[in-house]
Amino acid sequence: MTRVADVLQTRTRFMRSIHLERDFANGAQDYIVTPHTRATLARLVQGLGSQSHQRAWRITGDYGTGKSSFALALAQILSNRDHHLPHLQRAVDFRQLGTPRPQLVPILVTGSREPIAIAVLRAVLRSLEGYRTRGPEPRIIGKLRAVAISSGTPLTDTVAIDLLQEATAYACGTGKGTGLLIILDELGKFLEFAALHPDRQDVFFLQGLAEAAARSGKTPLFVVGLLHQGFNAYAEQLSQVVQKEWEKVAGRFEELLFNQPLEQTAALVAHALDVRMGRLPRDIGKKAERDMVATIQLGWYGPAATQRMLTETAARLYPLHPTVIPVLVRLFSRFGQNERSLFSFLFSDEPFGLQDFCAQPLEDGPFYRLHNLYDYARSTFGSRLTVQSYRSHWNQIESVVESFPQEDTGQLQILKTVALMNLLDAPNLLATDPALSIAVTDEGRLSTRQVRDALRNLGQEKHVLYNRGASGGYCLWPHTSVNLEKAYQEACRAIGTPQRISSFIQEDLETRPLVARRHYIETGNLRHFDVCYAPLNDLPSLEDANETLADGRIIVPLCETEEERQKALAFARSTPVKSRPEVLVAVPKPLGALVGLVQEATIVGAGTENGDLHDGAWLEFPADHTAAPALMGWPRRYAYRRGRVPLRTGSPDPASRRSGSARRGAHPRSRP
Ligand SMILES: Nc1ncnc2c1ncn2[C@@H]1O[C@H](COP(=O)(O)OP(=O)(O)OP(=O)(O)O)[C@@H](O)[C@H]1O
Ligand SMILES: [Mg+2]
Repeated sequence: MTRVADVLQTRTRFMRSIHLERDFANGAQDYIVTPHTRATLARLVQGLGSQSHQRAWRITGDYGTGKSSFALALAQILSNRDHHLPHLQRAVDFRQLGTPRPQLVPILVTGSREPIAIAVLRAVLRSLEGYRTRGPEPRIIGKLRAVAISSGTPLTDTVAIDLLQEATAYACGTGKGTGLLIILDELGKFLEFAALHPDRQDVFFLQGLAEAAARSGKTPLFVVGLLHQGFNAYAEQLSQVVQKEWEKVAGRFEELLFNQPLEQTAALVAHALDVRMGRLPRDIGKKAERDMVATIQLGWYGPAATQRMLTETAARLYPLHPTVIPVLVRLFSRFGQNERSLFSFLFSDEPFGLQDFCAQPLEDGPFYRLHNLYDYARSTFGSRLTVQSYRSHWNQIESVVESFPQEDTGQLQILKTVALMNLLDAPNLLATDPALSIAVTDEGRLSTRQVRDALRNLGQEKHVLYNRGASGGYCLWPHTSVNLEKAYQEACRAIGTPQRISSFIQEDLETRPLVARRHYIETGNLRHFDVCYAPLNDLPSLEDANETLADGRIIVPLCETEEERQKALAFARSTPVKSRPEVLVAVPKPLGALVGLVQEATIVGAGTENGDLHDGAWLEFPADHTAAPALMGWPRRYAYRRGRVPLRTGSPDPASRRSGSARRGAHPRSRP
């Protein structure tokens, strides 16, 4: 028996993520230059012009979209090591771009949770040592070793940048290269570290690096950072002042978005699957081409899709059905993670994944369709979908599909297809009649007519599908105008990132006095302590403790950032506090970590309290996601009592956003 797997030749190279340092030695012989990568290369190379100041770049793209592979190819090209790789040599037309072919010394750094300057200098050291022959050790190598390895010398940003400039001068002066190419892969990891240690001010090294790069003139110091999201996403939990500084630093790096157009992604997928076309039955190839044309006509590949190129690729995508690629890209862009990306999906043995599917006999000509992808998404992303359910309706989607009779295969396939489209809720990927007909019709198994009848039955008799017409498509719930994702995003924009968390939570914190229980049990004396919370700058005077009837006082400073926490600790250790044994100071972790929860709670709060509820616009909190309502003291108010929290569908009125007491006044808190 021939299985589907037998017509595929797995390109193992696509199976794992690229690691810059590890994979550089292997070259980039398998790298496929797409028009998008060619255009990106050209933009970068223009920055090497002797008059150009655009020498610091950041490339932002989703997980697993080929950023590191691109960086690898870039390193080969700009270090002039691509002699044996004609396809890479042809990728950039240096003459046309008016730039001589450079020979930069590649400095490859993969992000980790450590200070960025140290990691960069260590990579420079490694690289320069690689060039060394006999003779006395160059001074720059000794200096680099002193700061990057032995860490005996404290490293300031200025010292680090000076060393980099000295290393560039050394490399150029000794003919090792025409400049330095620093590639910072996974730059986000460095930013995460910097966000955890804002006191270290690591991002200022990046600023210095970008400035030195811009000034590097004829001996380029060329910097390219790769990351999954904008700088600001990593700075969300920092104070507003620090966020502004990060924004400024980000602005020194020219941004390039690494989003391949769909047809180029399809070409890469075809290359990765590497179908043995000679073994693929002709009728399967023809069916793929026909369905590809129909899918392009639906607009799923975008308005500028090249029909000829995509139709030629269709059969080479087998067993992926043509409707699957646009949805797959969207799915991974939204829910993808490290090592869980589009390319890893192609080769992983996860349940309901492609390899699992490929065990089927080829003679039936099965296609991996959207309903298969629904099963994969449910089994693989399950918990992520639940956590994000307030935006994606996942709980509702899953319960409709799972409660449907499993033996009704055709109808179930339709339902799962609609479910997946509803989950993604993308305006250009709608579950309309023609889309479902292409996605589900399976010659010999489910005819177009059967699909039509099933749709009618699911809608008019079983009432599990609701048709919103050509502009909305089918949906698993009846209400028509709620777009939670959109409402959520609008609310996020209107509310912004909460800056001082303490002002949001202060009135909801528990202030009942605390009894010293052990003391009572051991001595029989009942002593109680007042509890008071205050932002660092408003810490109550110790004298206040004299004025209460309590035996003592517990002060909880509400620290927004690590810097504030350090100040609070210093306050706790100060002599006036120490000399008052009845005053205790409890210093919690910085509140910055709660920013996401407070933002969510504010959004939901604005919706509920404006009373502007839409029929059926319900926001469900999954079991593991009750932190936001709990944080705001809501359990009794809404979340547990009603089981779900209604969400307003428009953007919240900024005026009602945050006059804490007025807002809370509507819902007095009853304490146990
Ligand atoms: N243009 C391409 N030519 C050849 N292989 C590619 C290309 N683009 C991506 N790949 C392959 O796809 C896989 C994922 O690529 P890569 O590791 O570069 O992505 P990434 O965006 O850096 O991922 P991550 O977000 O996990 O760091 C790799 O196996 C890589 O070989
Ligand atoms: Mg990568």
